[in-house]
Order: sequence, then C-alpha cells, then structure tokens
Amino acid sequence: MSGIGENGADFLVVANRLPVDLERLPDGTQRWKHSPGGLVSALEPFLRTHSGAWIGWPGVADAEVEAFEEAGLQLHPVRLSADEVQDYYEGFSNGTLWPLYHDVVAPPAFHRHWWNAYTRVNQRFADATAKVAAQGATVWVQDYQLQLVPAMLREQRPDLKIGFFLHIPFPPVELFMQLPWRTEIIRGLLGADLVGFHRPGGAQNFLWLARRLVGLEPSRGAVGVRTRPGVVQVGDRTVRVGAFPISIDSAGLDALARKKDVQARAKQIRSDLGNPKKILLGVDRLDYTKGIDVRLRALHELLENGRIDPEDVAMVQLATPSRERVEHYKQMRGDIEQIVGRINGEFARVGRPVVHYLHQSVDREELAAFMSAADVMVVTPVRDGMNLVCKEYVATRYDLGGSLVLSEFAGAAAELTSAYLVNPHDLDGVKNALESALTIDPAEGRRRMRALRRQVLTHDVDRWARSFLEALGTQTAI
Ligand code: ADP
Ligand code: F6P
Repeated sequence: MSGIGENGADFLVVANRLPVDLERLPDGTQRWKHSPGGLVSALEPFLRTHSGAWIGWPGVADAEVEAFEEAGLQLHPVRLSADEVQDYYEGFSNGTLWPLYHDVVAPPAFHRHWWNAYTRVNQRFADATAKVAAQGATVWVQDYQLQLVPAMLREQRPDLKIGFFLHIPFPPVELFMQLPWRTEIIRGLLGADLVGFHRPGGAQNFLWLARRLVGLEPSRGAVGVRTRPGVVQVGDRTVRVGAFPISIDSAGLDALARKKDVQARAKQIRSDLGNPKKILLGVDRLDYTKGIDVRLRALHELLENGRIDPEDVAMVQLATPSRERVEHYKQMRGDIEQIVGRINGEFARVGRPVVHYLHQSVDREELAAFMSAADVMVVTPVRDGMNLVCKEYVATRYDLGGSLVLSEFAGAAAELTSAYLVNPHDLDGVKNALESALTIDPAEGRRRMRALRRQVLTHDVDRWARSFLEALGTQTAI
C-alpha cells in the first residue's frame, strides 16, 4: 500500500478492535497486548507488510488515547464509554447479532436501547474514518459490529472506495428476518462498493434480502468463490457481493513450527503431560459457538465406554477468556468447567489429569508448540464463519503428522475436506471420528495431512486480501 501521506491515509482498516488491546494493570499502569480473535490474527500480518491506518476501539471503556504509530501502522483509537461497551459491544453486537448470525444457537435479545447505542457508535467510527482518509482512499470495514458504517461513511465521503467483509456467518433469511432493524442493516451494508462473505451462501442470502427489504433487483446467477460476484444496482452505484474465504499467514506459521525452540518446547509439553500415547488439543476463544462442550462430552463417553484408556490419552483445552460479562458466556464457562471436573474426577489419577484445561491465551510460539505436540486437533463448533484454528494446525504440521477432526458447520470444512468431518450435533459421529483419528494408520494420516496442507499453504491470508481488494477495484498497489 502506498501508506499515509500528509493529507491522510490511502488505505484504512476499520474494525471494532485495534490489533492491540489496552490492559490496565492492578498497580495502575497500563500496557498494550495482542487483541484476541481471528480477525486480528488474519489481518495483522497482512497489514504489517502494507502500511496503512487502522481505526478501532482499544478494548477498555473510557480510554483517552491519541493516535499513535506502531511498526509502520497508524492506529486511531475510537473511545467507547462504559455504557456503550455494555449496550453496543456486549449488548447489540454480542447479545443480538452474534447469536442471531450463528443460527440462534443461543436466543438473541432485541432491545431498542442496544440498537440506539449501535447506531451511535457506528456513526462515531464513520466520523473518525472520514477524518483520516485521504481523497479517494480505500477503506475496508470489518465485521458485524460495524454494519452501518459503509452507508454512514459514503454519506460524508462519496469519494472513497469502501469494502466491507463479514467475519462471521451471514444467517439464513428466515433468521435474519427476526431482526427488528433488518432493513437498516441491509441499507448500511449497501453503502459499500463490495460486500464480502466467507461462503457463497452468505452472499446469496444478502442478495435475496436486498431484493425483499430494499426492493432492489440483484443479479440472479450463483455466486462463486472469489469469482462471479453478485451485482446490485443502488441508484447510480454498482454494489458487488462476493465470497472470499479468509485464511492465515500459512508460510509464517509453517516457518515458526520448524524452529528448533518450538520443536523442543513441543517435546517438553509431551513430557509434561506424562508422555501419553496420544494428545488431543482444542484451542478456542471461550465461546458457546465453539462446541467445546461437544468434544468434552464425546471424550467422556469414549472413556466411559472403555473405547479410550485414560492411561493412553491426554486432552489439552486452551480457552481464551472472551466476553466475560455476557450472560451466555458466563453460563457456558460454568458448564464446561463442570464437565472438565467430572472427567478428571472419574478418570484421572494423582499427577495425571485426563483433561488439562487452561483458561488463558498463549503466545504464537507456544501455540505452535502445542499444535506440533498434538496428535489430534479437535475443532467442533456448532457454527463458525470460517475457523482459523484448524488452518493453523495444518500449517504447523510440516512433518505431515497429526489428524484434524473438524465440524461440518465451520466455513473451513468446505476447503478442508480431507479432515475427519463431523456433525457436532451427532455425538456418536463425533466419538467415532475421534476414535478413528486417534487410531489412524500413519500412511493414511500423512496422505490426509498432505492434502490439507496443499489447500492451506496455497490459500493464505495474502491471497484472501488480494482477491478482495482486486474485486474492490482499488487503485492502490497491493
Ligand atoms: P474467532 O475469530 O471466533 O475467535 P478463529 O478460529 O477464526 O475464531 O480465530 C481464533 C484465533 O485466536 C486464532 O488465531 C487462534 O490461534 C487464536 N486463539 C484462540 N484461542 C487461543 C488461546 N487460548 N491462546 C492463543 N491463541 C488463541
Ligand atoms: O470473528 C469474530 C470476532 O468477533 C471478531 O470480530 C473479533 O476479532 C473476535 O471475534 C474476537 O471477539 P471480541 O473482539 O469480541 O473479543
């Protein structure tokens, strides 16, 4: 990207969070730490190699922070009050949209004061962006927290090229139609020149809603992956609607996993776990969509049925704390911790738990070491837009070792067809897949992993970003 000139930035990412979160420590000092979640994991490596500006919330309420530069990226903090964090972020974004867009796996709540806060905060993001964008700049708005920003920004700055990408699933129309503010959301998104989803189904749903709710005449042909976008004419503007499956910095993670230190740490992890015959691994934000309970229940039954010997197997579950004040999250944490306690209560012996549960985030090297140590990566969301963890696991397995058990309801399942694909609602199916993955013939394992790696290494985040920005028709060199 050509970066930031005197008259503003030529390329801007607008996301709910900055790539770094402000952390307030008990002694009153503060520091910046890496933000959680797939959006930052995916976009950060891309942005670091292409200068630009990033507009986002610093992750805590009432933070007064001036714009600053970090490793070539211009960061522009947007301030949220404590009430706004409650109503816009925890409320409308994560109490209404998150469950609604994830197939109502938890009931969404509809509150007018949450919607009002969402509108107000979206306007603030649009205003902040309008201020720092150079004439004719490319602005890439991210995710469900900011769906009104494209139209709000266009209103002030028709000179800008505006892209929008949704990182979570876009729901079936019957579910979306529950939303009292459904038309406003569709109009908000239609402010973009290009609206991107992970899967063609999401793009198709959006096109149907543009017809039904806004009375437009979208194209009728099937949307392809990275090709054949749908088209909607909005006045004199043409809005494109496409599918762009996101990915990871595959080569970077492959290189990290090959490092001697990481391999030594992987060995150490195996030894710390008591050198079990097989290690199962789960890595997730602690979110009720991730199906952490599903894999634990499957493991519990396999142990109960005597199909797995607790002496042979250890499971590690790394769970990043997430949205801890939202009710469904509190409830789910309790449920998961109860199952972990139950499995260990019944099947552990002193010094040898079966499930090692860490309610914490680990750094990239440590993550690569855990993945290198794991024989089976278990990714069982009941719904997930893409899921990057499964791609990360594949990228770390340069040795062609390890097996992947993956939910059909993750966007990644369409690409990672050589994984053991499971329906997370079918507990017997999950148990069978876990057992097959644990007892796989090594040659068959290598064959599957080779096929998975071919996909992940050739479809990385750089390709994702390029295909989106090319479809947006940005003039800026990528
Ligand atoms: P989401 O965006 O819903 O959190 P993704 O699977 O797409 O889900 O992305 C999650 C990202 O967060 C991945 O890059 C993953 O490695 C990282 N992550 C999740 N849990 C942990 C953890 N406990 N420690 C370190 N990184 C984690
Ligand atoms: O991809 C979904 C998403 O909500 C991202 O927008 C975000 O980066 C990530 O999950 C983490 O969520 P949060 O910002 O609420 O901690």
